[in-house]
Amino acid sequence: MSKIEDILTRYRSGSHESLIPILQDVQTEDGYLSEEAVVRIGGFLGMSTTKIYGLATFYDQFRFVPTGRVHLRICNGTTCFINGSGPVIAALKDTLGVDAGQTTRDGRFSYELTACMGGCNEGPVISVGETFYTHVRTEEIPEMILKLKALADLK
Ligand code: FES
Repeated sequence: MSKIEDILTRYRSGSHESLIPILQDVQTEDGYLSEEAVVRIGGFLGMSTTKIYGLATFYDQFRFVPTGRVHLRICNGTTCFINGSGPVIAALKDTLGVDAGQTTRDGRFSYELTACMGGCNEGPVISVGETFYTHVRTEEIPEMILKLKALADLK
């Protein structure tokens, strides 16, 4: 049984209120929501793919393309925002040339904005896997990305 079929066994078919939990489960499993997955979920719940995309895009958490080989998470919580996450996010966008939720053309990088990571006194905070970068400043972003390129190329 494929992973998506396995996930669907946990839910009642036709139950529209299961949409968001199903999307969350599939994204946790696959890292993003493929078109194929959305079609299958639509069939299971009796919902059009247009409606599913419409609802899913309302939530920042869902991705529709695979993540990059290196995926950064940047805290967009209130304290990090006060500590300057806005300019750091802008620097990340400038350096990578993509918005949050997108993947660079070369497949190396993607990033997402997250809720509080629990390190408010250390913000702005960026995590890459288990590694946390704290007190991140905009001027550090280009060098951080340069170093992470080497990591992306190992994957
Ligand atoms: S607001 Fe960023 S770690 Fe708490």
